[in-house]
Amino acid sequence: MPKDTITLLGGSGFVGRALCERLVRAGYALRILTRARLAARDLWLLPDTTVIAGDVYDADFLRSAVAGANAVINLVGILNERGDDGRGFERAHVDLTRLVLAACAASGVPRYLHMSALNAAADAPSYYLRSKAAAETLVASSGLNTTIFRPSVIFGPGDGLFVRFDQLTALAPVLPLACAAARFQPVYVGDVADAFVHALGDKATVGKRYDLGGPSVMSLQEVVAYTLRQRGRCRLVLPLGSGLSRVMAEIMEHLPGKPFSRDNLRSASLNSVLAAGHDGLAELHIPKTSVAAIVPAYLGQRGVLARYDRLREHAGR
Ligand SMILES: NC(=O)c1ccc[n+]([C@@H]2O[C@H](COP(=O)([O-])OP(=O)(O)OC[C@H]3O[C@@H](n4cnc5c(N)ncnc54)[C@H](OP(=O)(O)O)[C@@H]3O)[C@@H](O)[C@H]2O)c1
Repeated sequence: MPKDTITLLGGSGFVGRALCERLVRAGYALRILTRARLAARDLWLLPDTTVIAGDVYDADFLRSAVAGANAVINLVGILNERGDDGRGFERAHVDLTRLVLAACAASGVPRYLHMSALNAAADAPSYYLRSKAAAETLVASSGLNTTIFRPSVIFGPGDGLFVRFDQLTALAPVLPLACAAARFQPVYVGDVADAFVHALGDKATVGKRYDLGGPSVMSLQEVVAYTLRQRGRCRLVLPLGSGLSRVMAEIMEHLPGKPFSRDNLRSASLNSVLAAGHDGLAELHIPKTSVAAIVPAYLGQRGVLARYDRLREHAGR
């Protein structure tokens, strides 16, 4: 019997790679769309997978890429845009979603899964979150069989959280930290991927929106402290007030790769924590994986305190 085929946008990214691996294991055939086929070359080796390079903003390309697919998954997202006027977010999140939904409707694709973000709302403080909300509105009103996922910050090998602070704290003895008190509910990339895979096989998820968070809440300062403990590093962490955080964002958004921006700062003014009664992983019966169960393996445990963390995890404390 031919395998069900999934077309993915954003399949070459951090979440995408984890999801592709699980989809293949679950028996799906994949079409992964990318703007840069060579950069996604490790995905060429996945069984029953075709990596297709093209312009995902081209309606004809999209129509042919989704034609005959049993489902389309859109993971495309950017954390930063060129400039600071919202146009980059609008294009990647809203315009592209509109095009993908139109291609799905034209080709009769029976299922569409969409990646959004926790705190996405029309009145959110950042372009990132407002554009994610606008895309959600398009998805929800598309008339297709859709499901939306809204994670807090996602952790796993290659993440932009623990790995980022591991790299930053390797550079200097002092770390000025913007948004130190901002709170997150880090969710494991494998659990996020499981939620998508689950939704493909469960009709009850059609029309639903799932907020995804992990088992514990951490401030950014706690994330940094945890990273330092795992590495056995001693660093001076200097939490910055709102004025200095803004100065830091203005400086860092001019660095290559824009590691931090004013828009990131605006997003971080909201705690990224699940509201009571909105726990998507619990609703989907997916057990939550803790930071302590995963992060030490990819950061490498060097410190004595890191070993205590591991013992505590084993003891369930
Ligand atoms: N990581 C997190 O902590 C987190 C938290 C909440 C929500 N999310 C959401 O989860 C999704 C995946 O995040 P991620 O961390 O996996 O991101 P990522 O590693 O940066 O991957 C983003 C993917 O989107 C594609 N892409 C990037 N910019 C694009 C653009 N301008 N136009 C079209 N395609 C573009 C890239 O594909 P090619 O370069 O191959 O074309 C890449 O595969 C995003 O929607 C993000 O907003 C992530």
